[in-house]
Amino acid sequence: MSDLPRGVERRSFDGKERLATRGMPVYGEPTDGEWRLWDAGRSKLGAMIEHAMPVGLAGGESVLYLGAASGTTVSHVADFSGPTYAVEFAPRPTRDLLSVAEDRPNLFPLLKDARKPQTYAHVVESELDVIVQDVATRGQATVANRNAQFLSADGRLVAAIKARSEDVTAEPQDVFDRVVDELTAEYEIVETRSLAPFHDDHLGVVAVKR
Ligand SMILES: C[S@@+](CC[C@H](N)C(=O)[O-])C[C@H]1O[C@@H](n2cnc3c(N)ncnc32)[C@H](O)[C@@H]1O
Repeated sequence: MSDLPRGVERRSFDGKERLATRGMPVYGEPTDGEWRLWDAGRSKLGAMIEHAMPVGLAGGESVLYLGAASGTTVSHVADFSGPTYAVEFAPRPTRDLLSVAEDRPNLFPLLKDARKPQTYAHVVESELDVIVQDVATRGQATVANRNAQFLSADGRLVAAIKARSEDVTAEPQDVFDRVVDELTAEYEIVETRSLAPFHDDHLGVVAVKR
């Protein structure tokens, strides 16, 4: 078992050891005192941590989270991280994200398009430790490459790549090869691995900025 970030623990829920963080509940997840279950089946980052991928999160890092949706995963990230900037371009989930942030003073929701980092570069600090990306949209490598500017010299990209978002007809492995190849324009790949059994046809990628 790998070291978990400070602020993430394995706790017993229904007799099974599961990831948990400490914070206000967000989406009806089971709780154990002040701890709340972080379900790897609902969170690609949770799956990467379950797979002991080197996500570069020890606790307290500064994070840019791309594709925050209504805040399921980024709420857990904010529970154990430092400043956490959450970019989401769909207005409806961003409304939910705003209420998630009410209880989390270190979580900054941004209604922005992650393909256009120049529209939030004046708000997001530079020299960030980690970018977490889960945009599930065509052009996932392009999004990651355009946002590399926010990372510190040894900052990490932690991305979940969804094959079907790029091409529904292609073999997932072919899609992954193309995406990883495009990422090497800005990053050195540290580790890739399938997120099964938690998420089908998703590749987890950890990379450092070149
Ligand atoms: C799979 S969902 C994210 C789930 C979320 N990461 C979680 O674990 O709680 C993908 C999200 O990315 C958002 N998204 C897609 N393309 C985007 C873009 N260019 N900029 C910002 N958000 C984007 C979608 O609106 C959607 O909410």
